[in-house]
Amino acid sequence: MGNYQHTPVMTREVVELFRPTPEGLLVDATVGGGGHARALLGARPDLHLLGMDQDSDAVVAATAALAEFGARAVVVHGNFEDLATIVSERSEGMAISGILFDLGVSSPQLDWPQRGFSYWGEAPLDMRMDAAQPLTAAHVLNEYAEGDLVAVLEQYGEERWARRIAEKIVASRPLVTTADLVGAVKAAIPARARRTGGHPARRTFQAIRMEVNRELPNLASGLDESVHLLAPGGRILVLAYHSLEDRLVKERFARWTGASELPPGMPVEPTRNPLVRLLMRRPLRPQPDEVAANPRSESARLRAAEKVAAASGS
Ligand SMILES: C[S@@+](CC[C@H](N)C(=O)[O-])C[C@H]1O[C@@H](n2cnc3c(N)ncnc32)[C@H](O)[C@@H]1O
Repeated sequence: MGNYQHTPVMTREVVELFRPTPEGLLVDATVGGGGHARALLGARPDLHLLGMDQDSDAVVAATAALAEFGARAVVVHGNFEDLATIVSERSEGMAISGILFDLGVSSPQLDWPQRGFSYWGEAPLDMRMDAAQPLTAAHVLNEYAEGDLVAVLEQYGEERWARRIAEKIVASRPLVTTADLVGAVKAAIPARARRTGGHPARRTFQAIRMEVNRELPNLASGLDESVHLLAPGGRILVLAYHSLEDRLVKERFARWTGASELPPGMPVEPTRNPLVRLLMRRPLRPQPDEVAANPRSESARLRAAEKVAAASGS
């Protein structure tokens, strides 16, 4: 493992939004290198923290980064798909004060070539966040039926050339390295389209990565479990980095407030029994100074909601 370096995004905003939460346990569902976790434990001496990550490199890095907090911080290897089980095993009866999801990939996952997430350079087709899971990018690319590849590229990559790319991937089998995948994508896309909209393989890599790591289904499960774990007054914060994730978060938050169950055009009924109240209607975006210092923060959208007291135990 190289030197794990990830700059946490919108840390000021995350710390401020967690400042008023009740004392107890903060759950960092995507602890990464422990950047947010360190800032939160520093700002809130009354809180304990349970951090999890499905990437064992991150678990090692976060454990070291949080060592100074002693027993206040526990880091475990786990998938937030199993959030409720992990929290129930580790919370030691503490009230859940907050839950943070900082989605997407970490900088080391992108920057360490051997992980296979990057379309720059040449690496094995891996793309697993959890090196223990069996499904790899190589399996998806070499074994999926062409129609299933088209669905992955359309659904997760919103790739307009999905059919042509899938056809080329199937014709190029076996694909062995990330360079083989970049080559297939470039050969499939018309030359004029290759010259616009960033790297031609960006959407394909995003789509395959999301399929390999089951990113949207896991997020749906993790969010559904999170809202029931929170104590009254506890807060859930989600940092999303692309529209598909953010759309899912927005939809779940709206459902929890009861809003999405009303027929369109109906006024919001004050008598409904919402699980949460939204802390802002539109997501927060990073300030220009942060984007200038850390360009990877640019696409971040931060949404936050607070568990409503009357809904406790529901
Ligand atoms: C953007 S990074 C988090 C960085 C972290 N907030 C920090 O300050 O260093 C996202 C992390 O979430 C992890 N991750 C993504 N999906 C996950 C899941 N379903 N369960 C657990 N961890 C996940 C990734 O392995 C990655 O380390």
